[in-house]
Parts: sequence; C-alpha cells; structure tokens
Amino acid sequence: MFRTRQFTILLQAALLLAACGNDDPSSVIEIPTTPETPGTGGENPEGNDTPSDNTGLYTEQYRPQIHYTPVKNWVNDPNGMVYVDGTWHLFYQYNPYGNDWGNLSWGHATSTDLMHWKEQSTVLYRDALGDIFSGSAVVDKENTAGFGAGSVVALYTSAGEHQQQSIAYSNDKGMTFTTYNGNPVIGNTTRGDFRDPKVFWHEPSQQWVMSLALGWSHGIEFWTSKDLKSWTMASQFTTQVARCNQGQWECPDLFPLEYKGQQKWVLIVSVNPGGPFTGSGTMYFVGDFNGKHFTADALDYPLWADYGMDNYAGVTWSNAPDERKVFLGWMNNWTYAGGVPCSPWRSAFTLPRDLSLIEYQGSPLLSSKVSPEVETLAGSWEKAASGQSFKEASAYHIQATFPYDKASTLTLSNAYGEKYEICYNTIGHKISVERTSVTGTCVSSFSMPSLYAPVRTETENVTLDIFVDQSSVEVFTGNGSMAMTNLVFPQSIYNQIETSALVTETKYRTLKSIWNQK
Ligand code: FRU
Repeated sequence: MFRTRQFTILLQAALLLAACGNDDPSSVIEIPTTPETPGTGGENPEGNDTPSDNTGLYTEQYRPQIHYTPVKNWVNDPNGMVYVDGTWHLFYQYNPYGNDWGNLSWGHATSTDLMHWKEQSTVLYRDALGDIFSGSAVVDKENTAGFGAGSVVALYTSAGEHQQQSIAYSNDKGMTFTTYNGNPVIGNTTRGDFRDPKVFWHEPSQQWVMSLALGWSHGIEFWTSKDLKSWTMASQFTTQVARCNQGQWECPDLFPLEYKGQQKWVLIVSVNPGGPFTGSGTMYFVGDFNGKHFTADALDYPLWADYGMDNYAGVTWSNAPDERKVFLGWMNNWTYAGGVPCSPWRSAFTLPRDLSLIEYQGSPLLSSKVSPEVETLAGSWEKAASGQSFKEASAYHIQATFPYDKASTLTLSNAYGEKYEICYNTIGHKISVERTSVTGTCVSSFSMPSLYAPVRTETENVTLDIFVDQSSVEVFTGNGSMAMTNLVFPQSIYNQIETSALVTETKYRTLKSIWNQK
C-alpha cells in the first residue's frame, strides 16, 4: 500500500514537471547506488558528509525565514527528536540526493534555542535492511541497552521488503550513530504497514514502551522492553469511530500531560488521507495508559491537533527539560507534497509548539502554543492600524482581538493583490480561510476554497496569534485551543493588513530571520 503512495507522488511530480515544461536537469531525480553495509550506520556515497557553508543561502523565493529547512533536498517527517545536555536535536526524513521523496535517510540539525538551527551531517543512510524510515530517539541514562550510560539510542523503521524496527546508538550525544549489529530488533515478514516507532521510558513499570503504527489497519501497537533490544507486544489500540478509520495511521506518539491535577495520556496519530478536510492530518485521543494498554476516554473524535492542511507526522521531543512536551510537525501534505514550488529544498517544519491539556465545555482539549523561545526572534510590539504595511518584514507575528459574538475579518495582502483573509464567523464560532489563486497557489490539488477551524473558546473576546513567514501562515487562538497551519505561495510575502471595524485591537512585531545570526 505504501508503494501506491510512492507511485502517486512520483507520478504527480512527473506530471508537474511535464505541465511546467521544466527541463532543468537539477530537478531530475538521480538514484545513486547506495552502499548496503549494515552495522556501520551507512555511508554517504558522495563522500561529502558535511553540509556546505550556509552563508548567502536561505534567501530564495519561498524560503522560510523562521522555520528550519535544510540547505537543499527533500525532507518529510521530523524524527528522533531528543534533547541532550542543552541541545535540541532534530533528525528528519531526508533525501540526500534530491528534491523528491526517496533514498530515505535521517538528516540532522541542532539548536540551543529551538529557533536557530545548524544543519549537521546526515546520521543514518539506507542499509541492507532498507530505507531509514521514521522513528524516535531516547537517552539511555541507566545503560539498559549496554551501549553506555547516557548513550542516545535511535529507533527507526527499516523499510525494505518488509517494515521492521531497528536501532542505532550514539556515544557522542547524538552527533553520529552506529547501527546495532543485531538488527532488526522487531522483525516482520507478514504485515504491510508496521512502522514509525516512538519510544519512552515508563517509570511506574520500569520499562521502555514503543508505539507503532499499522497504516491501513488503523491501529497502534504498544510494545515493551527492558533493554531496547528485546521487545514484547503488549496491546493494540483501535477505535470504532468510523471517521478516524480513513487513510493510513502513521507516526504515533503517546505521552502524559497534567489535566485538572491528574495525569492523562495523549495518543497522537497522523492519518493520511483522512485529515480534517482532505489529505494528511493529525488527530489525537485522550485517555489512560497502564504501562501496557491505552484506553481512550469517550470524547467527540476525531479531535484534530491542527485544522490547517500543513501539519503532519508531528511528534514531541524526548527528554525535554521541565517535562515540557514540545511538538514539531512536517509543514506539508502528502496530497501535493512533491509539487510545492520550493527549490533547492523541499520543505519545512512547523514552528515548535508547547502542548498542554486545557478544559473546554467540561472535556480535555489539546492546546498548542508556539514555544516561548520565539521571543528570541521578536522585536517590540507595535499597534497595527488597518491599511498598514510592514516594511522589510521577512516574517512577523500579529495579535488580533475581537468580540466573541461579532463576525470579524483580518486580511493579509501584498502589492500583487494576493490576499489571505481570516474570517471569524459567529455561527459555529469558526475562523475560515480560502487558499486558492487569490492567496497565491501552486499545483491544482493545493487549492482549498474553504478551510475552517472552531475557535473553541468562550471568553468575551477571541485573540488570534498569527505567524506569517514567506510561504506559511500559522494561526492560533490565544489559549492554544485551535491551531491552523497552511502553506501559501504568494508572489511576495503578505505585508499589509486590513481589519474589519470590529477587530478591537491589532498589534504586530517583526520576527528576525533565523539564518546567519548565530
Ligand atoms: C509519514 C511516513 C511514515 C514513514 C515515512 C517515510 O509521512 O509515511 O509513516 O515512516 O513517512 O518517509
């Protein structure tokens, strides 16, 4: 089944190239011969393992200025996100040889503030067991695996003839990895979809717990282990809610959050296609976990972590300080991922978001708020008048407040007449946006005439936090009860704002580009 999507993506890419008459040889996918050497961590056949000097890059049209992207080449899911001694590690699905999905490896970037990222050498390349698909990483503080106390252990899917789970370890705090010579640690010869291991240490039962996604079988399996090498199947989670059982289930993440003084567990599941509108989306369940079984509370599922089109395969950082649950998604959608007009890179990750559980109408709701580290980029707040332009802003943050019971509109636009209109409707208390040629678009499947999201807040005023970059708009309610992440491709960044009379207060601040400043 997975191959079907691969084929669709390649077909879409081929059609796009044909449609655009694009004969640029750099957009032709070259599949190099990769060395197949299990036990070494793989090697880069180009022999050049160090990302190039970044100076002068990152100014291309559509290049995000406040979101991480590699200098060049394809990325999809964030992988192995782990915090080690003051450094946030971001690994990700990466094609070292081109701008389309393929040759899946783990690219790598590091940050000390979650905003400014340094691209590092690719850590895992395809080996004899297959491509290196998505997975996670943990710090093995007690040396349960025997690779050394404090070693960083990556757990990923080896995607060859079958999808199996493998591990690799790092004795230099996550900078380089050696694949374990006993791989796969969970073999598989029968199932089609069996992937994306996300692992955490479960203190009460003194064991590691792995969540694994079953794709078209619409389930998440939980496996347990004392040493990260030997694993036992503990249980399987499924749901009877038909709307949740569309598309493939991928990239799970299970973690505890406090809710009204008690511990609850959140299970994130990416689903594709079958998202809130069409294509990829991220849903979640809230419930309890006893070390083996996850039981979902009876809530109104599906619950969506984001109502936009472009937040997929997101999971949280392992070992983050202060028990923070910091989430990062891939800012794209499999419906058109291969067709977004970004070169020589394709594509980016969302802004990092701190997750919590809040109460709405007596039930828990997952709240996403942009991580406070965004302050490192922010200038001072200024009042924004309707009709105002933001000169020289490569990215910015708008905060707008309007009454809960009055329809209001906030429009971002540019000199080309392209505009992104955020309308608040009191019927259903939703915001709606259009993403079409009016906003600036690309391939036809990218056009979405009607996207909407319930604000799910009942305060007298609604506050929206809007983060605008060169090719994305992320909208959040002030308390994080709603997130809407959309890619946009206007000819230039929207740099004007207009508000309807009822928007009581609008302020903005510029966000400094993350490139070449640290
Ligand atoms: C999700 C996904 C994962 C898989 C990876 C392959 O976007 O399909 O399930 O591991 O991408 O690149």
